[in-house]
Amino acid sequence: MKCIFKIFIFLSIIKGYGQESEKFVSDLMSKMTLEEKVGQLNQYSGEWAHTGPVTKDGDKQTQIKKGLVGSMLNVTTVKHTTELQKMAMQSRLKIPLLFGQDVIHGFRINYPIPLAEVASWDIPLIEKSARFAAVEASAYGVHWTFAPMVDISRDPRWGRVMEGAGEDTFLGVQVAKGRVKGFQGNGIGNTDAVMACAKHFAAYGAAVGGRDYNSVDMSLRQLYETYLPPFKAAVDAGVGTLMNSFNDLNGVPATGNKFLQREILKKQWNFKGFVVSDWGSIGEMIQHGFVKNNYEAAKVAIEAGSDMDMESRSYKNHLAQLVNEGKVDIKLVDDAVRRILIKKYELGLFADPFKFSNQKREDAQSNNPEHRKHARDIGARSIVLLKNEKQLLPLSKKTKNIALIGPFGKVVGENLGFWATTWPDDNSTIVSQFAGIKAQMDANSNLIYAKGCNVNDQDRSQFNEAIEAAKKADVVIMTMGEAHDMSGEAKSRSSLQFPGVQEELLKEIQKTGKPIVLLINAGRPLIFNWAADNIEAIAYTWWLGSEAGNAIADVVFGNYNPAGKLPMSFPRSEGQIPIYYNYYNTGRPAADENETSYVSAYNDLKNSPKYFFGYGLSYTKFDISNLKLSNSKLKTENDVLKISVTVENKGNFDGEEVVQLYIRDLVGSVVRPVRELKGFQKIFLKKGEKREVQFEITPENLKFYNDNLEYIFEEGDFEVFVGNSSNADLKASFELVK
Ligand code: NOJ
Repeated sequence: MKCIFKIFIFLSIIKGYGQESEKFVSDLMSKMTLEEKVGQLNQYSGEWAHTGPVTKDGDKQTQIKKGLVGSMLNVTTVKHTTELQKMAMQSRLKIPLLFGQDVIHGFRINYPIPLAEVASWDIPLIEKSARFAAVEASAYGVHWTFAPMVDISRDPRWGRVMEGAGEDTFLGVQVAKGRVKGFQGNGIGNTDAVMACAKHFAAYGAAVGGRDYNSVDMSLRQLYETYLPPFKAAVDAGVGTLMNSFNDLNGVPATGNKFLQREILKKQWNFKGFVVSDWGSIGEMIQHGFVKNNYEAAKVAIEAGSDMDMESRSYKNHLAQLVNEGKVDIKLVDDAVRRILIKKYELGLFADPFKFSNQKREDAQSNNPEHRKHARDIGARSIVLLKNEKQLLPLSKKTKNIALIGPFGKVVGENLGFWATTWPDDNSTIVSQFAGIKAQMDANSNLIYAKGCNVNDQDRSQFNEAIEAAKKADVVIMTMGEAHDMSGEAKSRSSLQFPGVQEELLKEIQKTGKPIVLLINAGRPLIFNWAADNIEAIAYTWWLGSEAGNAIADVVFGNYNPAGKLPMSFPRSEGQIPIYYNYYNTGRPAADENETSYVSAYNDLKNSPKYFFGYGLSYTKFDISNLKLSNSKLKTENDVLKISVTVENKGNFDGEEVVQLYIRDLVGSVVRPVRELKGFQKIFLKKGEKREVQFEITPENLKFYNDNLEYIFEEGDFEVFVGNSSNADLKASFELVK
């Protein structure tokens, strides 16, 4: 009874708060001119940084003072945000500016890139990165982050896979929830939280050919089942905003897409926040061939539910005219303005426009040691051990001579990844791989360094020096991969091999006969068959952020036993892309990897990836056995099936393992994937320790979209697979019955 009373009070407060903000905003809007209303829908980039094509606009400051700008992006620090907010306070109604920023993998302290973090399969830690990034960013005057990016993608040619959660929807949903919670903390309005923005709505990750900004053509069933759930999860987690996407979806640009924004998002999902366009995407509907000019673009976008115009100026230049001419209903403008003002209210900006611009807080967050510690922890946990022949890793700290060779050895900025736009220029607080490794070696051991080559050119002049360095060493650590700006926005690539002469260098070093540990730095799955087949130990280190060097050293020397698992399938060849584990069986599946005659297979390549989704090794050995189901039947009415396995640490190291549960629905009214991830648990076992791990499945977990887009389950037979990758072979079955 007491509890019900508390809930009642809580709901009344929330309701009261909602009424208060509604009333405040209605009063304010009654005083606003049409131009001022349109101003709230207008967002510009500051001049300190640009994250899109620059549009020269000489009089932004005057416009702010006139109340014709609602939001700015790329304006950070107490100094700059105060400067601009003061200008907004000179406007007639003193409506505060909203400062948005791409806080994608940390702010000043950088965490592993989002895809790398997902390899940890550790949702609480992923949430913590977002939390700490929010604490920092909000202390630097930022109100709103353009994150999380929740686009599912099955195409590593697309450079933006580095920003997302990979190829799987189930995993993507958990990550989306965690990141939204992390950014928004105890709620927007707290000075240690930023408003989140789930992007890019929708299906941006399915660009044809993996070419950024390209078209997307997909069935609605695929859209609902694979691409929308992380957005829905973000909305359910209370995300304040969404950003729409550059692509057209089935011929209609997302920015002008009524079905996506009005029907699905605002009607079916009852989303109360606002939608910001992507950079210039309202105006880009002209190039799409969807509208004739910015005047039409403004009309189409506002009707479709795009509330704020990032950088295209279509609203600013045409919306008032469209309303005055009776071509756009003022109600649409009012709805967009209201949504934005409510968020400003919830952020507390009307009460104090300078609430987030506090020098003391900014100073206190400079290089926060707790955040650095977290960057190191999650850095190590993001590393995926792909190969470890003869247990070459971990190395002994007493190894007399280690050679560190490769273009990533001593550089620092390369460790950060694409969206590190806010770091001070000198990069002085980023730990290089050389520094991290050296710091952990015994005083009497030597770390020899040779760069060997650049990341992406044909210069072989440093090969000899590298070969000599290798000859002096007991073991070589090669550090190779992509430069920080080779994956990211507009960074699609048709070749995913090591760029430049890096692989050639690796082959030369291998000829010395020295044991090699290969570290691969990248923002996407690369293709490295020769290395995979010929190098003893390989760790995928992605781009790990400010503490990269220490995190890598922790894994190399075994302070941390790696447990990362791949969040995307790693192809053998670009020709296999798109590649993903949850494909359909087809009518002519190949019986094995060698069968090619009249089956769905490549004649010159296996179907399987080089490394499976969910795969990753440990220094210890985990045995997963004894798969048991609580029943062979699951009833459609409120029943629960318990699935258990025994996990035993049979190796010589304590360690973590990600136990994964996959399901196959054998026969459906629409065909179902050969496997679907339905659960995972990350557990820690001391060496020799054994534990039962339990999962639960309910009929709800077996639902899918049928041909009429109804979300249903169907009775019938299911298979269950449990193991430590999507290739797990431990199998059982059950039947879903009435
Ligand atoms: C374009 C990108 O697609 C988007 O993700 C980003 O938030 C904006 N630019 C602003 O930088």
